[in-house]
Amino acid sequence: METKQKFDGYASQYDEWFMVNDKLFTSELRLFQKVLGDITGKRLLSVGCGSGLFESYIDCSGVEGIEPSEDMGKIAEKRGVNVIRYGMIEDVDLPEETYDIIYFNGSSSYMENLAPVYEKSLKALKAGGRLILLDVPKESAFGFMYLLGKSLNTYDHEYLKDAMPALPYPLALASSGVWHTTEEKIRVLKDLGIHKFQFYQTLVKNPLYTNEEAEEVIEGYQSGGYVAIIAEK
Ligand SMILES: C[S@@+](CC[C@H](N)C(=O)[O-])C[C@H]1O[C@@H](n2cnc3c(N)ncnc32)[C@H](O)[C@@H]1O
Repeated sequence: METKQKFDGYASQYDEWFMVNDKLFTSELRLFQKVLGDITGKRLLSVGCGSGLFESYIDCSGVEGIEPSEDMGKIAEKRGVNVIRYGMIEDVDLPEETYDIIYFNGSSSYMENLAPVYEKSLKALKAGGRLILLDVPKESAFGFMYLLGKSLNTYDHEYLKDAMPALPYPLALASSGVWHTTEEKIRVLKDLGIHKFQFYQTLVKNPLYTNEEAEEVIEGYQSGGYVAIIAEK
């Protein structure tokens, strides 16, 4: 790897954050499992598979991964993800009409220009395949918190006093995010010709309380701190 990637050096901090925020993780995992559905016999591609933390809770024998950070991807490989490429999705040629499901779990939030990568992913899906985008929406309480932390360059500020969760997402990762709204992603997909959508969400409580108990998945996208868009080709 020629250049240092945003997540290089953060692999253990990333996993530890989820381990400490275990209820938050369970909520997100429930959403992840719900939107993937039954993956038996299916071919999947995880774009920005990271350390494969979520994949380690499913049968990931049919899951291929693309990941720019070697630190993260090596752990994903140990967890059973078939990392087919260390690099950015922007630089990868994908075979057409190949995958049943392509998903971006949190990775769109580190990409500037979504249209070309979603277009490439849609081409790589079989007819009837699903592109699944899971993210923290920019317009959610989590999105506001990360953007405020980024602009203050700290979470330790009087504006945020008594309002922050005990262990917030690492500031460097919040700050390097390119937070998109859900509507922005829907618009991009509609412009690419997609009309069949489903939406699910979790983390509807304010961030201060998110880790008190795991939440259920609910339909929609207007209140969650973690939202999934399912787009059918
Ligand atoms: C928030 S992490 C999510 C990791 C993993 N999917 C998970 O849910 O635990 C975002 C991941 O996207 C990766 N990423 C960032 N930019 C990317 C790009 N242009 N192409 C592919 N992956 C990217 C990062 O290296 C990082 O591992």
